Amino acid sequence: MTLTFYEEVGGADTFRTIVDVFYREVSQDPVLKPMYPEEDLGPAADRLRMFLEQYWGGPTAYGEQRGHPRLRMRHMPFRVDPDARDRWLRCMRTALDEAKLSPLHDATLWDYLERAAYAMVNTMEPAGIGPQAAGRPTLETRAAQRPTETP
Ligand code: HEM
Repeated sequence: MTLTFYEEVGGADTFRTIVDVFYREVSQDPVLKPMYPEEDLGPAADRLRMFLEQYWGGPTAYGEQRGHPRLRMRHMPFRVDPDARDRWLRCMRTALDEAKLSPLHDATLWDYLERAAYAMVNTMEPAGIGPQAAGRPTLETRAAQRPTETP
């Protein structure tokens, strides 16, 4: 029988460890923490955990509850610049270190997370630079005007 990556790394326990450590780090990050709309990071942690489990061959609860991930579109309301990306990845690096995966599993998961994080960047403009909403679309209005992503 062929194991899925999800099973190989230890299933639900491992993904819970990764996401718990990740959000513990996010809660202490002065740039990332204020980006989360809810004060309680628990529901956001559940969404990320379900997504990662599904992506790596585990339970499909994410799709049942949230539908198609459309991750770039779902991140458009947030200011994901290179600084936020690097902070996100630093929190994830700590999480993977604490999960103590085998070197091959660690490298496989990290490679994916790094590429996904680079793909999620939606602005290169440093925060606070340039004219404010005066005539120029803000991230929010820009996201609202963008056509819906097709699957
Ligand atoms: C690059 C830096 C990133 C930042 C700053 C960021 C930030 C955020 C924020 C603020 C949310 C909303 C929280 C919520 O769910 O209520 C969110 C949601 C989410 N993020 Fe990210 N994110 C980043 C990268 C990623 C990457 C690389 C992945 C996947 C590999 C990811 C997966 C998700 C998922 C699955 C959700 C929930 C989507 C849903 O609503 O169903 N994020 N993220």
